[in-house]
Amino acid sequence: MDGQRGWIGSEPATRALNLSARHPETPFSPWPEQLAGSQNLLTGRRLLVAISGSIAAVKLPLVVSALVQLGAEVRCVLTPSAERLVSPVALASLSRQACAVEALHWDASQPRPLHIDLAGWAELVLLAPLTATTLARLVHGLADNLLTSTLLACRAPLVVAPAMNTDMWQAPAVQHNWQNLQRQPHVIPVDPGRGLLACDRRGEGRMAEPELLIAACRGALASGGHQDLRGQRILVSAGPTREALDSARCLTNPSSGRMGVAMAVAARLRGAAVTLVHGPLQAVPSAWLDGLDCHPVGAAAEMMACLLRLQPCHDGVVMAAAVADQRPVQRSAVKLPKADLPHALQLEEVEDIARLLHQRRSPGQWMLGFAAQDGDLLPPARAKRLHKGFDWIFANPIDQPGTGFASQRNGGWLIDDAGERHFATADKLDLANQLWSALQPRLQGGVQVAASPSGTRSEAAGEH
Ligand SMILES: Cc1cc2nc3c(=O)[nH]c(=O)nc-3n(C[C@H](O)[C@H](O)[C@H](O)COP(=O)(O)O)c2cc1C
Repeated sequence: MDGQRGWIGSEPATRALNLSARHPETPFSPWPEQLAGSQNLLTGRRLLVAISGSIAAVKLPLVVSALVQLGAEVRCVLTPSAERLVSPVALASLSRQACAVEALHWDASQPRPLHIDLAGWAELVLLAPLTATTLARLVHGLADNLLTSTLLACRAPLVVAPAMNTDMWQAPAVQHNWQNLQRQPHVIPVDPGRGLLACDRRGEGRMAEPELLIAACRGALASGGHQDLRGQRILVSAGPTREALDSARCLTNPSSGRMGVAMAVAARLRGAAVTLVHGPLQAVPSAWLDGLDCHPVGAAAEMMACLLRLQPCHDGVVMAAAVADQRPVQRSAVKLPKADLPHALQLEEVEDIARLLHQRRSPGQWMLGFAAQDGDLLPPARAKRLHKGFDWIFANPIDQPGTGFASQRNGGWLIDDAGERHFATADKLDLANQLWSALQPRLQGGVQVAASPSGTRSEAAGEH
């Protein structure tokens, strides 16, 4: 699979027009100011942040600050090595709670064992960064410091993000321990990515980015810490398409891709293997793409070719892309002078990707679609579901302030053969987790194929 970032150009016309040469990385504040103060999956939840002695520990004060801004109650516990790399005083200030350092483990003023207190208090543990040493201690049950004593006594879901030099990470003993740790049912692994390491090398072993750690915490709270999508191979489409007029102009739509990417990252953090086919993304943290098999595309024809090629090796498809309905008949490979621009555009229909996917799907392959609607959204969404052959469709309004296209929040109705279920407006990542919680029991063992598509043409696919 061509899983590298950057735009691929399988459609010759689009490549000639150079619309497929863009990189999807867009500036985005990783810190959730937009969410701060509003109800979300972290609000009021008790999170223990456990830090071991990797240089990546220096990123944790910002993670703690973000979790607190999201409304979580946060306490921190450090290994003695971590205390030398990151300031417990900074962590105490940012978490608004005393920081649990090694000296307190044997402090005569503790009325009860601190590790038991912390273990019982936590609803969720974020262990980041995880060193080779702490990994070995946990796998072998060595409770010889405050942090490992706490984690061995704790039954809360454990989000774990290793960080180390590439050779250390690839050492057979470390890999063996990492595989063993993941066998524990309450463990949610967040694998390290590739990147610049403190040893000046580029390679595998860099701790997952802070935005991904926070997304993993939110997913773990939604799923109760279960990797409930493990074994699922999910193909997700996201974002708008761009239909070129010439090398400088195109027809597109306001989809940011955030809803589709939220579905993808939430599924991945719940254990699924996820392939993402996406148009130009906006306001999506680039860290959310780490660990996804990404296929950037430009025009609808490129998206179609990519999805059809990838469809056979997936258990289910999420069509969250806002694919163009029509494209210009004439396209110029160079920028047209203003005087030569046509006064009226001649358009042609774009192939109906969802229907093609429906026609080609294998038995048991499920499909979820999205319908962005204004006005009375349920009747057209119901019709669209049947027309496209989706098992489920999520109908979401685009005519209400603060939700839908290019917004961080979304809500709407999940429609299937049995009826409709309402989902209140929430941050898109939280909504994605709620949707997976609702769908997950139906995904095991395949689903009934929905009614055949009717012959009528419906409105544009629509999501954000
Ligand atoms: C500056 C510095 C950076 C380190 N970075 C890492 C690291 O990224 N990953 C790792 O496994 N160990 C790293 N180590 C080694 C650990 O700190 C060492 O193995 C220690 O015993 C870990 O103990 P802990 O797991 O109890 O924190 C680093 C050590 C130093 C001095």
